[in-house]
Amino acid sequence: MKILVATEKPFAKVAIDGIRSEVEAGGHELALLEKYTEKAQLLDAVKDADALIIRSDKVDAEVLDAAKQLQIVVRAGAGYDNVDLAAATAHNVVVENTPGQNANAVAELVFGLLVFAVRNFYNGKSGTELLGKKLGILAFGNVGRNVARIAKGFGMDVYAFDAYCPKEAIEAAGVHAVDSQDALFETADIVSLHIPATPETKQSINYALVNKLPKGGILVNTARKEVINEPELLKLMTERTDLKYVADIKPDADADFAQFEGRYFATPKKMGAQTTEANTNAGIAAAKQINAFFKEGCTKFQVNK
Ligand code: 3PG
Repeated sequence: MKILVATEKPFAKVAIDGIRSEVEAGGHELALLEKYTEKAQLLDAVKDADALIIRSDKVDAEVLDAAKQLQIVVRAGAGYDNVDLAAATAHNVVVENTPGQNANAVAELVFGLLVFAVRNFYNGKSGTELLGKKLGILAFGNVGRNVARIAKGFGMDVYAFDAYCPKEAIEAAGVHAVDSQDALFETADIVSLHIPATPETKQSINYALVNKLPKGGILVNTARKEVINEPELLKLMTERTDLKYVADIKPDADADFAQFEGRYFATPKKMGAQTTEANTNAGIAAAKQINAFFKEGCTKFQVNK
């Protein structure tokens, strides 16, 4: 079988070496399309691929139409909002992700962004500390749990809300469980977003919700920009000059957050999972899942069931 790794944002070399070893151990052939700039390159490369490993690369109906032999797409990472699941199902293509494999990398970046924010973006002025502050974690999945673990090391008071995770499971991790998203924003000094981008969550981080943050509140977003109602957050930050927004996702081009100098920062390119370790973990997991799919028909991580 031909397994194509198509990544506009490439994996670290060591991760590619690991993927290659797994693919060859499974008796398959590896093809690489890295740093491509045009969709046409992807459409051409997928023509004879039986399996596809991607990151945030878009796989839509056009890509699936071009990929006549494709049986499985593995998104090496957590969020699979970049794959058209309905189109994949219609094309009889299995879609999987590799949950948890890059969670620590994203969680560590949360604290990179937070220290940067509370120290005034290193502008030389006196800042504040994270010790003793209340951190609210919205969604207690793999990333949220890693954020909680690291927050405890900083001596933070940690709270979480997750509509799909029982309170007991949150409390068992030594985190205060709150009853609602509203309660989380009312309680925390800092809220960190770890919700996926779904029809339910898109634009859900809006004016009314963020306005519940206490004075000096910080919103940190290492999830997706789509979960933010950007026009409403812009309006709120104009009105509330005490709020800060730090993100691992550039907002839409027409959302002028740059006007909030000293209260806003976004990484130029999504960096959360951009570590050698995360690339290796997620890439090798993807290759192993593909081997298991072709060998045993295993679809344990399928997300388009
Ligand atoms: C994920 O959903 O796993 C992260 O956002 C990482 O995305 P990336 O592979 O594009 O860095």
